[in-house]
This record gives sequence, C-alpha cells and structure tokens, in this order.
Amino acid sequence: MFKKLNILDEKNPLLRKKSEDAIFPLSKEEKVLIQRMIDHLTYSQIEEYEKKYDLRPGMGLAFPQLGINKRIIVIVYEVEEGTFENYVFINPKIVSHSTEMIAAEAGEGCLSVNREVKGHVARHARVTVEGFDENGAPIRVRAREDLALAFQHEIDHLDGILFYDRINKKHPFYTEQEMRLI
Ligand code: NI
Repeated sequence: MFKKLNILDEKNPLLRKKSEDAIFPLSKEEKVLIQRMIDHLTYSQIEEYEKKYDLRPGMGLAFPQLGINKRIIVIVYEVEEGTFENYVFINPKIVSHSTEMIAAEAGEGCLSVNREVKGHVARHARVTVEGFDENGAPIRVRAREDLALAFQHEIDHLDGILFYDRINKKHPFYTEQEMRLI
C-alpha cells in the first residue's frame, strides 16, 4: 500500500548539512526508501493520485530531505504524458557541464520548501553525471534542459544547498538577453 513520505521542511538543519557518501551494499532500509521515493514522485505527477493522497507534484528528492545525510538522489522524469523514467543515483558527481547557463522561467520549487520563492536559478544547460546504481554498478547520464536542472537541484541538496541560495538577490530575474529561460 502506498504510504506518503514524511519530507523535511526547509527549516530543518539536516537539510543544511553536507551528506556523506553511501556505502555498498546498501541496507534493506535504504533500498526500501529509494522505492518509496520513486512511488511518491511518480504518484505526485499523476493527477488522480496527487489528489487522492494530497501530494505536492515534484520530480526529484534527495536523502537529506528524509532526514538521512547520505548521497542518494532520485529523479522521476515524465518523458511524455504518463511515461516516466526513473533515475536513482548513489554518490552522484557532475563530471562535466556546458558553459551555457539556463534557468527555469517560472523559477524552481522544492518539496521541502512549502512556499513560493520567486526568482531565476541559473544552472548549466547540460551536465554529465556519474555515480552508482543501487547495486553499486557505475552509471552515467547526459542530461539536458529540465532534466539537467533537476540533477543540479538534487545534487545541491547533498551539499546542504537549497535552490533559493542561488537566486541573485540584487538581480533575481534575468531577461531573455541575459539568460536562456526554459
Ligand atoms: Ni529540492
């Protein structure tokens, strides 16, 4: 049966800690939690379940948001209506990135931030991420556009960074000339 995750709020100091590498083999509890993150994120993006379980839609979560300071992230990306791709990365690292920066035009959101924070978050348009799957096998992905933003947002959580830390306070909104807005 589906059970909603208890996601920590931004005020919780655990969200501000730098997380440690996860150790293989992962524990049963860690594997169960990863599956629950996948379920939660998937359901949150399907209207019927979003309403039924009163979920806030989101595409990514990191372990610190559940109170565990280990370097594990999960992204559930809707490639097309009703079709989802899951990315589970243990100890992820951005190994290369574009110099081109982009920002989500509508700003970013976070399941730990229960309020609207306005402003553009400048991020790399493309990133290559390396890490390990749940069984410890090396994996690598080239992500672009909104998926690239999601990886950067989630990896930031592992370093205690929240998206609004990256909003330029003196200049929170970029023009189309300054930044490609997606
Ligand atoms: Ni977040």
